[in-house]
Amino acid sequence: MTDIREACAKTTPRISEAEIRALVRPDRIHRRLYTDPDLFDLEMERVFGQAWILVGHDSQVPKPHDFVTTRIGKEPVIMSRDANGAVHVVANRCAHRGLQVCATESGSTRHFKCPYHGWSYRSDGSLASMPNAVSYGGRDAIADPANGLRPVARMAIYRGFVFASLSPTGPSLDEYLNGIKTSIDDLVDRAPDGEIAFVGGCSRYIVRANWKTQIDNGVDLHHATYTHVSTLDADGRQFSRHGGGPRILIDGKRSIDWEPFGVVGFPYGHGYQGRPPVETLPSGPIYEDYVSRLVAKHGEERTKAILKYDRFNSVVYPSFTFQAFGQHVRIVRPTAVDKTEIRVYPVALKGAPEAYNRAAIRSLAATHSAASMIQTDDIEVFERAQRGLASTSNDWVLFAGHPGKGEEWHEGGWRGSGTSEFVSRIQYAENWVSYMCGGQGNAVA
Ligand SMILES: [Fe+2]
Repeated sequence: MTDIREACAKTTPRISEAEIRALVRPDRIHRRLYTDPDLFDLEMERVFGQAWILVGHDSQVPKPHDFVTTRIGKEPVIMSRDANGAVHVVANRCAHRGLQVCATESGSTRHFKCPYHGWSYRSDGSLASMPNAVSYGGRDAIADPANGLRPVARMAIYRGFVFASLSPTGPSLDEYLNGIKTSIDDLVDRAPDGEIAFVGGCSRYIVRANWKTQIDNGVDLHHATYTHVSTLDADGRQFSRHGGGPRILIDGKRSIDWEPFGVVGFPYGHGYQGRPPVETLPSGPIYEDYVSRLVAKHGEERTKAILKYDRFNSVVYPSFTFQAFGQHVRIVRPTAVDKTEIRVYPVALKGAPEAYNRAAIRSLAATHSAASMIQTDDIEVFERAQRGLASTSNDWVLFAGHPGKGEEWHEGGWRGSGTSEFVSRIQYAENWVSYMCGGQGNAVA
C-alpha cells in the first residue's frame, strides 16, 4: 500500500536516478543543470531541502521580538528572536489557511497576526490566540504545536551564522561545515570582540542566471584575470581605485600566475580560493587603532596570524559565500532555473573602530554594490553564460582543468593548483549527484 505521506507530499516531476547520474561526468556537467526547470524543482526539494542552508546572522535580530523573513529554497521562513532571547527559524505559513503571516522583510513584533482569520503567533512561532477558539477545541487547540508556525526540522548556529536544515536527518552542522569553519573563523576572529554583525543593510541583485553560476564562480580564481581585467590599474594593482579593499601587488603584471595560491576543497562541496600575499597592508591611524585593539585582546603573535590574508572567496555549499578581506557575506537565493537573487551584506567587526567598519562598507560599495566594479563583472558573466547555454549546439559545460583531486592534503581537505576546477567537480560529482539521488551529500574527502 502506498504510504499516504509519500503519495501526498511530492509534486515534483520524477527524474530517474539513472538520468540524473548521466548528467554529471567526472570532468563535465550537462547544460540541463542550468536550464531545466524540472531539475531546478528537484534541486529545491533535494539539495535545499536536505543540506544546511544559511538563513542569516543572529545580529539581524538583535533584540527580543526582532525578525527577518527569507526563503530556504522555495520555503518561506521567519528568523526571529523570542522574548527570552532565543533564535528560531519557523515556516512563514499560517497553520489555518496557509497564508504568509509576515509580509515584511524585517522588523520587530510580539505577534505575527494572520490577516485572514486573525490567528496570532508569538515570536517563537507558537500560537498565542485564535478567534472563535472554542469551535476549534479551545485551549487544547491553542496549545497544540501543530497549530503553531512549524519550526524547521533542524537549526544550529555557528559563530552567529544561523543555519537550518529542512531534513530531520543528516550530518550535524559541525560535521557538515568541517574544514570550511577555518574560513568562518578567519572572518570572525578579525573582530577584536570575536563577533561580527550585519549592520550595513545589503546590496541585492536579481540575476538572470542559474544559482550555481555564483557558486561555480566562488571557487574559481582563474576568471579574475579576464572577468575583472578592468579592475587592474597600470601598476598591476587590483581593486586599488575608489578605495576598494586592501591592495595587492601582482608582480606589476596584468597576467597573474594563480597556480601557487591554490584552491582548497572540503567534504560536502565547500571550498575556498587562496590568494596572493598582501604586500601593501592598510595603514593610517584608523588601521593602527584597529590593530592595537586586536593586540590588546590577543597579543602580537596571534594578531599577526589573524591579520594574514591567505584566501579570497570561501563557499559553503550550496548558497553561502563570503570574504574576510572584503569583509562581506553573500547569500544566494534561487528563484527560478534562470533567475537568482544575490544578497551582499557588509560585515562589521565588533570592537573595531567605527571608522574602520564604515570604511569597509564604503569599500564594499566599490566592489560589490549594484554600481560596483567587481560583482557587476561577474553578473555580466553569469547572465551571458545563461544565454549561451540556451544553445543546443553543445550539451556540456566543462570543469576539466587539472584532472583529479587536489595535489596535497591540507587542513582536512584537498589543496590544488590555483586554476584547478576540482572543487566544482567535488560539488557536482560527489554532492549534487548525492543530494539529487536522495542522499545527504558526501562526507568523505
Ligand atoms: Fe569574479
